[in-house]
Amino acid sequence: MCGIVAYLGEKEAQPLLLHGLRRLEYRGYDSSGIAVVDRRGRLHVVKRKGRISELERVLGSCPLTGTLGISHTRWATHGIPSDANAHPHCDQSGRLALVHNGVIENYQNLRQKLLDLGHSFQSETDTEILAHLIGHYYDQLPEGDPDRLENAVRAALKEVIGTYGIAVIHADHPDLLIGARRGSPLILGIGLGEYFLSSDVTAVCVGAQKVVYLNDGDIVTIGRHSFHISSLLRDSVGFELSELELSEASAELGDYPHYMLKEIFEQPQAIRNAFRGRLDPEEGTAKLGGLHMSPHELLAIRRILIVGCGTARHAGIVGEYLLESLAHIPVEVDYASEFRYRNAPIDEKAILIAVSQSGETADTLAAIREAKRRGLRVLGICNRVGSSVARETDGGVYMHAGPEIGVAATKSFVSQILIFVLLALLLGRLRYLSVGQGRAILEAIERLPDQVDEILQKAGLIQEMAQRYKEVRGFLFLGRQYQLGVALEGALKMKEITYIQAEGHPAAELKHGILALVDENTPTVFLCPRDGVYEKNLSNLQEIKARRGSVIAIATEGDTQIAKLADDVIYVPEAPEFLLPILTVVPLQLLAYYIAVALGRDVDKPRNLAKSVTVE
Ligand code: F6R
Repeated sequence: MCGIVAYLGEKEAQPLLLHGLRRLEYRGYDSSGIAVVDRRGRLHVVKRKGRISELERVLGSCPLTGTLGISHTRWATHGIPSDANAHPHCDQSGRLALVHNGVIENYQNLRQKLLDLGHSFQSETDTEILAHLIGHYYDQLPEGDPDRLENAVRAALKEVIGTYGIAVIHADHPDLLIGARRGSPLILGIGLGEYFLSSDVTAVCVGAQKVVYLNDGDIVTIGRHSFHISSLLRDSVGFELSELELSEASAELGDYPHYMLKEIFEQPQAIRNAFRGRLDPEEGTAKLGGLHMSPHELLAIRRILIVGCGTARHAGIVGEYLLESLAHIPVEVDYASEFRYRNAPIDEKAILIAVSQSGETADTLAAIREAKRRGLRVLGICNRVGSSVARETDGGVYMHAGPEIGVAATKSFVSQILIFVLLALLLGRLRYLSVGQGRAILEAIERLPDQVDEILQKAGLIQEMAQRYKEVRGFLFLGRQYQLGVALEGALKMKEITYIQAEGHPAAELKHGILALVDENTPTVFLCPRDGVYEKNLSNLQEIKARRGSVIAIATEGDTQIAKLADDVIYVPEAPEFLLPILTVVPLQLLAYYIAVALGRDVDKPRNLAKSVTVE
């Protein structure tokens, strides 16, 4: 949410900043802006409401020159999207510029303090207050202070309540870039004679070879030939240099019209990546070394709490069924945002699993901190290497799905479910599953990538179907047991990218009120593969047909019975029922995608949304 890119090096900053911003546009797309200090020590700021293309258009006719700069793409929190509210923001002198990701909660108090000191503001943002506050301290410090800008940043941040990832430059310091973070991600990218700051690694892979994932409270001061990191929270600061594993190409769109479609088609690979090196055919189990738990500790788990938001929570719901049926451990799934404030009774034999693609979702991080505060062991399932979830948990499993850039999560959902399968298998083999049962599960897992490929071959059919359903008023998504999480996910995909009202429910809830929504203009997507509740689902399906509702069934290959009842059927290959969610979700992703395209929606950047929700 909001993207920051900053550069200090030997090259012209503007093209690198714009390239980085395009990479981060999925984090916010209300407005964007750039500030550069030129060779004569003058600060230039250009910012525009709207997409980055708008900013590029303006800069195209009048480029900014200079090798030090900061830039930002915004998802509005305080103040409507407008030129004035766009970042960067300047201090009272107009010589300091700042970009910010996060929320300054006490900005009203700080604003009043600055107004009393004679400051005046150009925008409605909390960020401008922070720029002025740093400028205020800068003015207080002696001119001869060699660390004047860093000390001003430090003094201002001590007064701030809230979250921030910031980058700061000053016209008087053309060789200095300062960054700081608390609650919002910030990464230092290190290249040959150049440095980057960014909220996301995808923006720095153009030049950086190594990265430092800054910790909460860190302040990084970057000069032309060196950098140093200090902390607002700790006396001594260590940092880890990591190789940048992401390639420039992996974040490119290639021949696909949208990232979402690319990522849907990357799912066979995402599944392979999630299980590569983690299957143990000899013992019929999974190897998950990143959990950092001995068999003895794994055996001692008596209860599992799963938290996440949106799609990640839906994967957690599938995880609940998996862990309960394969490992016989009681599981509870909660919205991370609810768990954080709910006084849930927990005991020392419980563990918490936090699920997050980005690893930076503020609500999920808050839930992790609450669980840790209460003494729970916390594990993470996340995609982003080095993210806050990865660093703040006691152990976990990386998804290795590659960058997910489309705002609608797709491949991360199937990866997360696959990791729950591996975890359930590992815990199950310590308890009730025999080696033979474990091996059968491993074989079924290995078949999944090809099976997903088979479903992807049906994209043309689903595209044609989308034309027929694109004008409907609303959609219902129904499923039971393992398919419940998929029904919820299908509804989320549909509403977030098509803007068509869509609801997901357990199929049996139909008669308890939902049936009232069924009519000719509200089709139902019914998840009814051949599983333990197939017959029950067929009865519910007939109840919809009896009310003249149309049904798109997601069914198992070879099911002739369903074709007689449903208006449309999309078949998926046969698999054990606990693996079926990985297959049945694919047609739902494609259906939402093709309806959104047919309606002319901005698929990768749906209105009002942004990826990686770093504010509560
Ligand atoms: C939906 C979607 C969101 C995210 C949610 C959690 O398509 O992308 O619902 O799933 O914001 O994000 P992460 O997984 O990054 O914590």
